Amino acid sequence: FDLGPHNTLAVPARSRFGAVVTDKGVLEQLVAEAEERGLPLRMLGGGSNVVLSSQFEGVTALMGIKGISVLDGTAEAALVEAGAGETWHDLVAQTVRQGLGGLENLAAIPGTVGAAPVQNIGAYGVELADRFEQLEAYDHEKRMFRVFSREDCRFAYRDSVFKAHPGRFTVVSVRLRLPRPWVPVLNYAGLSTLGAEREVSAERVFETVVAVRASKLPDWRTLPNAGSFFHNPVVPVAVADALIARHPGAPRYPAAEGFAKLSAGWLIERAGLKGHRQGPVGVSEQHALVLVNPGHGTQEDVAALARHIQAKVEAEFGVRLTPEPIFM
Ligand code: EPU
Repeated sequence: FDLGPHNTLAVPARSRFGAVVTDKGVLEQLVAEAEERGLPLRMLGGGSNVVLSSQFEGVTALMGIKGISVLDGTAEAALVEAGAGETWHDLVAQTVRQGLGGLENLAAIPGTVGAAPVQNIGAYGVELADRFEQLEAYDHEKRMFRVFSREDCRFAYRDSVFKAHPGRFTVVSVRLRLPRPWVPVLNYAGLSTLGAEREVSAERVFETVVAVRASKLPDWRTLPNAGSFFHNPVVPVAVADALIARHPGAPRYPAAEGFAKLSAGWLIERAGLKGHRQGPVGVSEQHALVLVNPGHGTQEDVAALARHIQAKVEAEFGVRLTPEPIFM
């Protein structure tokens, strides 16, 4: 089963068996069948946040549970539920088109609805956790479907209980909460000019986010990539102060008390690695936080480049970068 077309980094990858999960019953059947045959089973969404190994001796199941429905909301919020196999951007576009604002800052993020809570996707001042009501997931350990509240998910910056327990849970549907009345989130620099507009709408924010992303980030369809490859590092305030004393222009964002968040893209660019090429893989010329794979390099090629970047940034700035995608 060829997984080349199922990962946006275009790493050549194969799985002994493949399957598509179209509903909860199929998932349970597949779990039982894989166990009977003694085969490991793993799930894949849009493949936009993974670095796959060349060969997997088991079953790779593609999440294909579809369906988007607007539920009875309240005066305070609209509720929208979507199958884990829906494309995230399509859900955002559909809700905005229906006059339900709230997800527009998260437009054009590659991947599926089911993967969105796993890494708590975030962009332009909003993260999934801000619009989350609950989700349903299959617990492969307890062999049952479970509902997770916002607290149960333990969301943090690009993190959740699902990311902390790889392979244990399979998200099957996600319910989102879109607050009423709609309030635009325009604090990100590239969106702040919209604040001056007399009648800014969710559609307008949506279009702007799509345009900003297109101008800043390479498109995986033409230049294979997995989005931001490292977390923006959260460091003790003293470390950030020391860095900024040496490099007054370095970006710095607020984080938990006593900590500051630095820009991994800035660190990589200043380490001289923007546009750096290493065999089939490289660092985007457009955005230093994105690793690209024009030469269809393998998981090992990507890992070697990531290690090189980590070593160089650490030597230069004393900050250790952590990879964002999951090495599967
Ligand atoms: N920068 C550089 N050189 C570069 C790129 C960025 O110096 O090549 C510096 C610039 O100072 C720039 C700053 O980094 O102003 C921030 O860049 P950007 O606005 O692109 O955001 P980011 O911090 O690099 C994060 C998310 C993105 C998200 C944007 C916008 C992470 C790991 N990444 O990137 O998410 O779209 O903010 O909110 O938190 C993703 O996760 O795949 C992703 C694209």
